[in-house]
Amino acid sequence: MSDLDAFIAGLPKAELHLHLEGSFEPEQMFAIARRNKAVIPFKSVEEVRAAYRFSNLQDFLDIYYQSANVLLTEQDFYDLTFAYLTRVAADRVRHVEVFFDPQTHTARGVSFAVVADGILKALADGEREFGITSKLILCFLRHLSEADALATFKRAEPWLNRIAGVGLDSSEVGHPPSKFTRVYDAARAAGLKLVAHAGEEGPAPYVWEALDLLKIDRIDHGNRSLDDDKLVARLARERITLTVCPLSNLKLCVVKDLKDHPLRRMLQLGLRATVNSDDPAYFGGYVNDNFRAVTKALGLTKAELVTLAKNSFLGSFLDDDDKARHLTAIDFYAAGN
Ligand code: ADE
Ligand code: ZN
Repeated sequence: MSDLDAFIAGLPKAELHLHLEGSFEPEQMFAIARRNKAVIPFKSVEEVRAAYRFSNLQDFLDIYYQSANVLLTEQDFYDLTFAYLTRVAADRVRHVEVFFDPQTHTARGVSFAVVADGILKALADGEREFGITSKLILCFLRHLSEADALATFKRAEPWLNRIAGVGLDSSEVGHPPSKFTRVYDAARAAGLKLVAHAGEEGPAPYVWEALDLLKIDRIDHGNRSLDDDKLVARLARERITLTVCPLSNLKLCVVKDLKDHPLRRMLQLGLRATVNSDDPAYFGGYVNDNFRAVTKALGLTKAELVTLAKNSFLGSFLDDDDKARHLTAIDFYAAGN
């Protein structure tokens, strides 16, 4: 292991952009399909992995939604979530803010309660077992209507004391943030945090809309913001966190090569960028794999890695005392390494 890889391995960090359904590893998919007597259109784990070659976001989403069909019971959602926490405990992840897509499941007859309760129980057990704290973020599927998002938000009402925020994901182009102003107004009125995928494949004006119309607290991806100098200046001035996902960007052809990845440029422009895995089971790696790959491709320094780890806590929805505690732990770690 190189010096920097070892440094990454032990660096305390938070993960702020992770779709639980995207952490569904093929081995677990087969095990759960067998348990549920569900049929999957693959013969082996190798065949599944071979199918994970995408030329854009939609290519990936088609297979991602199909795989999620295997998840039926509260135990399935528990196992999915607990497996993710077990995996990232080994990456020295201390806090996670994770997405789930309830509409993917309720549309096929799985109740909101089954999904949310399974996930929440695993998050509680993960904190007990590994000391990983968590926040849960309910994502609306942007290819569906705002009426569907509003109905989903209504269904979530009994869980809102255990849900930290709402997000917006799925097919971006053609489904701008402006489509979801009313449901974001409702979530804001309920005191929830607000995030949205913006500027992954969609243009910089989508990021403006997420800021001005949805009034989001954090941007997921945000790569295309760099096309617009005024937007960059605003993001820097307002210290808006970007949850950047290098291996996802590579696998979905948002960047051609990791050497072209804008992460370092974002830091140099004063943006609060963070490193995350997005859908690790599909994109070839968990958060430390993302750190290692982008560090190698861009030649990131220890100081930049420390900034990225600090940004992950600064950009989190933890309270100020918890943030301060994690920042101190990073300084302590960096001083000894
Ligand atoms: N759902 C899961 N991963 C996603 C991504 N990278 N972009 C949009 N929607 C998603
Ligand atoms: Zn995402």
